[in-house]
Amino acid sequence: MPLRELFFMFFLISYKVLVSRAQDYGDEKPAAPPPAEENCNGIFVSYLFISRLKEFPHVKNATAQAWAFKSTATVLNAGSHELQAWKIFIGFQHDEILVSASGAVIIDGDDFPAPVGNGTYLSGYPQADLKTSIDTAGDINQIQVEIEMTGTQFGVKPPGIPMPKTIRLENDGYKCPAPTRHKSSMHLCCVLNPKFKAKATKPTKFLPRQNGDLSLTYDVIQAFEGNYLAQVTIDNNNPLGRLDHWNLTWEWMRGEFIYTMRGAYTHMKDYSDCIYGAAGKYYQDMDFTPVMNCQKKPIISDLPSDRAKDEKVGNLPYCCRNGSLLPTTMDESKSRAIFQLQVYKTPPDMNRTAFSPPQKWKINGVLNPDYKCGPPIRVDPTEFPVPSGLMATSTAVASWQVVCNITRPKNKNSRCCVSFSAFYNDSVIPCNTCACGCDETDTCNPNASPLLLPSEALLVPFANRTAKAKAWAKLKHHHVPNPLPCGDNCGVSINWHINSDYKKGWTARVTLFNWEDFYFEDWFTAVQMKKGYSGYENVYSFNGTKLPQLNNTIFFQGLQGLNFLMGETNGTNPKINPRVPGKQQSVMSFTKKGTPDIKIVLGDGFPSRVFFNGEECSLPTHFPTGVGHQSHVNVLRVIFVTIMTFVLTMDHLH
Ligand SMILES: *[C@@H]1O[C@H](CO)[C@@H](O)[C@H](O)[C@H]1NC(C)=O
Ligand SMILES: *[C@@H]1O[C@H](CO)[C@@H](O)[C@H](O)[C@H]1NC(C)=O
Ligand SMILES: *[C@@H]1O[C@H](CO)[C@@H](O)[C@H](O)[C@H]1NC(C)=O
Ligand SMILES: *[C@@H]1O[C@H](CO)[C@@H](O)[C@H](O)[C@H]1NC(C)=O
Ligand SMILES: *[C@@H]1O[C@H](CO)[C@@H](O)[C@H](O)[C@H]1NC(C)=O
Ligand SMILES: *[C@@H]1O[C@H](CO)[C@@H](O)[C@H](O)[C@H]1NC(C)=O
Ligand SMILES: *[C@@H]1O[C@H](CO)[C@@H](O)[C@H](O)[C@H]1NC(C)=O
Ligand SMILES: *[C@@H]1O[C@H](CO)[C@@H](O)[C@H](O)[C@H]1NC(C)=O
Ligand SMILES: *[C@@H]1O[C@H](CO)[C@@H](O)[C@H](O)[C@H]1NC(C)=O
Ligand SMILES: *[C@@H]1O[C@H](CO)[C@@H](O)[C@H](O)[C@H]1NC(C)=O
Ligand SMILES: *[C@@H]1O[C@H](CO)[C@@H](O)[C@H](O)[C@H]1NC(C)=O
Repeated sequence: MPLRELFFMFFLISYKVLVSRAQDYGDEKPAAPPPAEENCNGIFVSYLFISRLKEFPHVKNATAQAWAFKSTATVLNAGSHELQAWKIFIGFQHDEILVSASGAVIIDGDDFPAPVGNGTYLSGYPQADLKTSIDTAGDINQIQVEIEMTGTQFGVKPPGIPMPKTIRLENDGYKCPAPTRHKSSMHLCCVLNPKFKAKATKPTKFLPRQNGDLSLTYDVIQAFEGNYLAQVTIDNNNPLGRLDHWNLTWEWMRGEFIYTMRGAYTHMKDYSDCIYGAAGKYYQDMDFTPVMNCQKKPIISDLPSDRAKDEKVGNLPYCCRNGSLLPTTMDESKSRAIFQLQVYKTPPDMNRTAFSPPQKWKINGVLNPDYKCGPPIRVDPTEFPVPSGLMATSTAVASWQVVCNITRPKNKNSRCCVSFSAFYNDSVIPCNTCACGCDETDTCNPNASPLLLPSEALLVPFANRTAKAKAWAKLKHHHVPNPLPCGDNCGVSINWHINSDYKKGWTARVTLFNWEDFYFEDWFTAVQMKKGYSGYENVYSFNGTKLPQLNNTIFFQGLQGLNFLMGETNGTNPKINPRVPGKQQSVMSFTKKGTPDIKIVLGDGFPSRVFFNGEECSLPTHFPTGVGHQSHVNVLRVIFVTIMTFVLTMDHLH
């Protein structure tokens, strides 16, 4: 070990010497390893493994042994362009758990210790930008960051060295080759892609704003000695993005606290963290009782709508909708949320121009997609129209943008699921086993395929279906595994039923079931259909539109006044009748004019992706099969079915 450290020290020294190559060393030759950064005309990224120590518990099994490791990564701007908001990927691969990293934060807001065994993205904090040597006379502190990491890693018996799989720069416009590897280090030189042109229309001092599914802007709109007023704007930019009852959290990095807030509130109103913290030391005479929140990581929620006109806490445009953020396709005015907060700073940041936006942003909602947020990036100050009515604009003192993107749910991790059925097969293919996760798997099998069901079983909660499913399996001579498959555990399920298939067209019936005990207001569903899309004609008791911005996607929402999906309720006699889900149902018609070769009986009538309130639902792994004789239904029959379904749906609403 000491030998390696010595070697490393040597490496580091030769490194530093080279970096400050503004000085003239004449004939002095740099020692090994040959520093590739010398020839790098771009961003030089390197990773260096320093040391490791066996951790407790000491075990015989070498793959299970934990080791504490130390390593560093460096990002050096050796090019002629400033690198703003640097971002790197480190491809860890040995079940690493990162315990600390100086000079950087994990991009998706994870806290230390963070499991990073599949690799992780890091961005700069506090130094997000790397200036050029030219602009700084080679000041190493401004052109380079060194990230010192400590963590735990598993396996890799000595003398093996646990290196990451790869390392690279992630900023737009840079091209990175594969890293050059040595035993305990790797490095690469990423160069600006000459073809990449930033789409800047006017010269900007900061980075241009980024596109993403959700954009959050942190604008400092008034600055004083010791405190400032910030405004947070949340914009939903994805036609299928959505949040209900959103909670936003972040982390204060410099001991700030929230004095007051308008348009939103924090869940905890507890000022003891201030009194015992840095704030209490500095603000000796301050009365902390009116303080809104002193937590390092506040949880912020939207105000309910009855506070919208409240002079003290509301009265902001776009505020106070009880946390709902709809896609622009539904209602443009409800796709934005705004709130303001008075932030108090602590020394040494009392300077009026010292701002440090909070880091590690996270936002989530109820039965909505998962958003992963990037770090706050300094952007040109936001311009606001002056409310005087004159053609004037005011600008923010400073602005940062956080971009959050939707991540597709992983297997068994959705919040909604789909069942398939068809007129040519009397068995329903139910939602996948554990589609939305399984907590208790002692009494059921989380890996078995779900049991096929008779259609009426879809109407009862999973817990009360067993008898029906078993009887059906017996009747149809299906195998019944022991233990039985687990349920889907989804809050919402959707049944897609192929209703008919005739010469000129076909129809499908879609039913939404809500198994939660709360209702969904302004619900929406979107389906992507590979083959059927172009033949879509009409949906009878929903409001359906084709979404032009997305491929092959049809968007449904409730008609005005019918936009509630009620919650699950007690059966009429709870002793005998199981609980009843909230339901919405409609029939859709499709023509075959543009798609003459569509094979409904082979599964072409089923959607390829289904979304509920933005969350992508889990789909069955196969289709109902059957013999393909076309039904002799006609449009009259379709209309009859539609009216009946509509009447039935209305019935359920009472
Ligand atoms: C050693 O530990 C690994 C990881 O915990 C485990 O997968 C493997 O089965 C263990 N091997 C033995 C021989 O116990
Ligand atoms: C890494 O990815 C695998 C497969 O996607 C997943 O099972 C595992 O939980 C991931 N590990 C971490 C630490 O994210
Ligand atoms: C606001 O949302 C909460 C749940 O977060 C709900 O209990 C309450 O009824 C809603 N209020 C209004 C006015 O919609
Ligand atoms: C259907 O939704 C669109 C877009 O939200 C809206 O413009 C239209 O008025 C709605 N139609 C009906 C009948 O509700
Ligand atoms: C406040 O900070 C700015 C920039 O950080 C600096 O230029 C200025 O001198 C500081 N002012 C005082 C009074 O410390
Ligand atoms: C928001 O936070 C509150 C308080 O921690 C919690 O009760 C609520 O369930 C959260 N809502 C969501 C959508 O996570
Ligand atoms: C979000 O997606 C946009 C475009 O799809 C991409 O440019 C941006 O880098 C992504 N941001 C994050 C934080 O993943
Ligand atoms: C839509 O499909 C076309 C052709 O299949 C493809 O070129 C385009 O990128 C797709 N657009 C989106 C938004 O997925
Ligand atoms: C539903 O039934 C449960 C017990 O079965 C009872 O505790 C509850 O009060 C009932 N809820 C309503 C709204 O009747
Ligand atoms: C339905 O299942 C639940 C949970 O197992 C049980 O408590 C309830 O009594 C069942 N209802 C009926 C009518 O069997
Ligand atoms: C119905 O579909 C299921 C699933 O594909 C299949 O196992 C079953 O044999 C089909 N039934 C008939 C009568 O074709």
